[in-house]
Amino acid sequence: MKTFICEICGDAYLGDEKPKQCPFCGAKDTYIKLGDEADPIVNKTIELSEVSRKNLEETLNLELDAHAIYICMANKADTYEIKAMYKRLAKVELEHASAVCKIMKIAQPETRTKTCDEDDVENFKKTLDLEQTAARLYLGFAKEAEEKDIKIFFTALSKVESEHDELIKNYLK
Ligand SMILES: [Fe+2]
Ligand SMILES: [Fe+2]
Repeated sequence: MKTFICEICGDAYLGDEKPKQCPFCGAKDTYIKLGDEADPIVNKTIELSEVSRKNLEETLNLELDAHAIYICMANKADTYEIKAMYKRLAKVELEHASAVCKIMKIAQPETRTKTCDEDDVENFKKTLDLEQTAARLYLGFAKEAEEKDIKIFFTALSKVESEHDELIKNYLK
């Protein structure tokens, strides 16, 4: 067994092989390194431009909202699979919020409470909407970022959210 570290969220995965995605933030394996080779973005001190600071704040807000909405959806789910899937999605979004706070060197705000629909299909549609909006937004934030690491961070996050979109589309087939 080895220690692998995700350079996006900074969390360690203990296992024989590098996972295809970070189990915590969902970042692709290109961002996961062997422990002694990893230099996580969340550990760096980055001089943030005004635009990146604003974009990170918006990201934090979106991620905290998404976490709360997915907790609601988990509680309304008809099957254990859907419940477990939404609980995991909620944790991934909270991990994104946590990474943003580490980059900004601010304390992590309290989690929120949000409402959602009673019906799984309606919740899937809402999830697609949230994930597509986030993926598009983060791609724009990556373009706007002058700091190399912030560009990498938003590019990685955008990919994660578009993979969430694909995951939910399978439930709507
Ligand atoms: Fe990660
Ligand atoms: Fe996210």
